[in-house]
Amino acid sequence: MAEDGEGIIRAQGLVKRFGKLTAVDGLDISVSKGEIYGFLGPNGAGKTTTVRMLTTMELPDEGRVWIDGYDTKTEFIKARRCVGVIQQQNSLDKDLTVRENIIHHALMQNLSLKESKKRMKELSDIMELNDRMGSKVETLSGGWKKRVAIVCSLIHNPDILFMDEPTTGLDTQSRNLLWKMIRNINRKGTTIFLTTHYIFEAESLCDRVGIINKGKLIAEGTPEELKERVGNFALVATAPDGNESITYYKDMDTAKKASLDLPHDNSISIRPTNLEDVFLELTGRKI
Ligand SMILES: Nc1ncnc2c1ncn2[C@@H]1O[C@H](COP(=O)(O)OP(=O)(O)O)[C@@H](O)[C@H]1O
Ligand SMILES: [Mg+2]
Repeated sequence: MAEDGEGIIRAQGLVKRFGKLTAVDGLDISVSKGEIYGFLGPNGAGKTTTVRMLTTMELPDEGRVWIDGYDTKTEFIKARRCVGVIQQQNSLDKDLTVRENIIHHALMQNLSLKESKKRMKELSDIMELNDRMGSKVETLSGGWKKRVAIVCSLIHNPDILFMDEPTTGLDTQSRNLLWKMIRNINRKGTTIFLTTHYIFEAESLCDRVGIINKGKLIAEGTPEELKERVGNFALVATAPDGNESITYYKDMDTAKKASLDLPHDNSISIRPTNLEDVFLELTGRKI
């Protein structure tokens, strides 16, 4: 039986250990239907391991996960059907064409050929892939491959799309295009859970962001809420020896006043706070 409760994705007390390393260390997660939720953290923070547990690819050592109300341990198949997953490394067959990859994927999801073709058409329209359907995957750039992977993962019409670092390694233009497409998919009703180590991606694409460090969620909220907690303006003072110190203030005026007290040989700038600052304040280091 599907269990009622808040959140189309819910996790309670998730733990994953690899030998002595606790890669995921007691995570509670709740993502609402229709959200774009960003999981932001540095390399090795535990993002991929979390995604693997949320999407039933890996069993947690402790804790439970519900997808659309289905317990991923006891109602594995129902939970699995609700999710599409795009892993960090693409799993496309490079010797096949785009069309062949998509159809192959659809048939593996038990769609009929007729259904597969209908869904392929809808999704390749959204992803603007129509001109590339006959191209071999190995001839495509990273951005195009990602689009094909998205079509494959959405072919069975899941409620939730998980994307593990979808834009890592892409150039700015492909990244912007992909963001537009992710927003389109979300507008059509798909909940998005994505991991990233790009500050700007989390800020500009996500409705809500969870910041993960060493397997723990250290902050969560809308980008605005997170920045407000630290202070909306950063006063950056650079000493003659190059040493930089940053202090945060709730408004521009307070920051300006504070800057007057700084040593006169410092070079000073005031800028809006970003999520890198939030991470820096919480952990003492950069993402
Ligand atoms: N299969 C595994 N065996 C051993 N250690 C692992 C394995 N998978 C991940 N780890 C370790 O767990 C930590 C978290 O990894 P990962 O979830 O991949 O982080 P992220 O995706 O945030 O970069 C890292 O220290 C990584 O080396
Ligand atoms: Mg990863």
